[in-house]
Amino acid sequence: MAAKWAPESWTKAEARQLPDYPDAAALDAATTQLGSFPPLVFAGEARNLTEALADVAAGKAFLLQGGDCAESFAEFHPNNIRDTFRVILQMAVVLTYASKLPVVKLGRMAGQFAKPRSAPTETIDGVELPSYRGDNVNDIAFTPEARTPDPQRMLRAYSQSAATLNLLRAFAQGGYANLHQVHRWTHDFMGRSPWAKKYAETADRIGDALEFMHACGINADSVPQLSATQFYTSHEALLLPYEQALTRQDSLTGDWYDTSAHFLWIGDRTRFTGSAHVEFLRGIGNPIGVKCGPSLEPDELLRMLDTLNPARVPGRMTLITRYGHEKIEAGLPKLVRAVLREGHPVVWSCDPMHGNVIKAANGYKTRPFERILAEVRGFFAVHRAEGSIAGGIHAEMTGQNVTECTGGAVAVTEQSLADRYHTHCDPRLNASQSLELAFLLAEMLNREMAERKKAAA
Ligand code: PEP
Ligand code: CO
Repeated sequence: MAAKWAPESWTKAEARQLPDYPDAAALDAATTQLGSFPPLVFAGEARNLTEALADVAAGKAFLLQGGDCAESFAEFHPNNIRDTFRVILQMAVVLTYASKLPVVKLGRMAGQFAKPRSAPTETIDGVELPSYRGDNVNDIAFTPEARTPDPQRMLRAYSQSAATLNLLRAFAQGGYANLHQVHRWTHDFMGRSPWAKKYAETADRIGDALEFMHACGINADSVPQLSATQFYTSHEALLLPYEQALTRQDSLTGDWYDTSAHFLWIGDRTRFTGSAHVEFLRGIGNPIGVKCGPSLEPDELLRMLDTLNPARVPGRMTLITRYGHEKIEAGLPKLVRAVLREGHPVVWSCDPMHGNVIKAANGYKTRPFERILAEVRGFFAVHRAEGSIAGGIHAEMTGQNVTECTGGAVAVTEQSLADRYHTHCDPRLNASQSLELAFLLAEMLNREMAERKKAAA
């Protein structure tokens, strides 16, 4: 029997990657205030997402999760939110059109503010300061004041999340996501990409299909899915004092939900046995994710699944694998086999970003587009060979025309990385690269659907 869970029971377990707040009273004041603020999402929405993810686990839908590595206070602007939202819409259209599967859209948005770091401190020119841990912990500037964890930042992260979520809801439900607008979701700067042309062709075909359906009496009045979409939010549940303060008991069911987002995940550095993060997330009703890197052994994964999803609720667990393009084909099969053997219902999602970081000759952290693609290809190959479902993709991406990952059809070179390198943490795919990824992914998914059809016949 697992010990009794409470929103604060994680405090008795080993917590890695949490900041050392110098002023306990200030932390207490901030989390008390946060605890009095309204929830950002409603428990019923989280349950709807669990159901949508159960379809993904069963191969009846595909998961598209994407957004910033780290949201920041500096990049808070309606255009940034709109641009990332619309690339996700574009990607979803491309994937749906090719695979004929519904796409579950999940942003790394409206709360993705806390970052795990490989070292607790950073040293520059002999000066050692705490590492930057995301804007809801400290500031990226390299001064002692900026790097001191400040609990008041959580309140700012909350309000930025609330405003971001409000705009996302407005876009999703208020007409922007109307399928008739499919041509307008493009970005001016994408014009040079051959994939922009391919997107316009897909949009033409969708437009034709909509006109045909309209003539048959199927339109936005009769089918609301044509004029609005469901868009969910997610982030890494890293900063536990923040997550605890937003954890509330659902008045309908009596269950606890972390109302900071619809979906929360545990990072690769905090998913170990005995972890405070695992302890916290096991008690909340939201659908949750676990990042699975090369060091995760099948036995440990199975123990974790038993802890996090003892009732084996389909859609509750998403395993986000992030091996790196060279390791996935050797490393992933043993996890897939163990999960299949034990019969745990999970969504398998591919994060082709975090295992493929390299340092360019000029010092920039980057991710070559071809390595990202190679990991996605490996992911599909493993699931095909093992007889399990390749269910989704997890990407660090932005709607902006940044130069952070190298490669793609409008190639970003190592030399051009400096032009528009804006990320607060890891390098993101830009809008053109994201669309290109969607088209290449659509091809793989299309092939996969054909194989499944053949096997079923
Ligand atoms: C992330 O998703 O930004 C991240 C830090 O990933 P991981 O835990 O897989 O390293
Ligand atoms: Co990242």
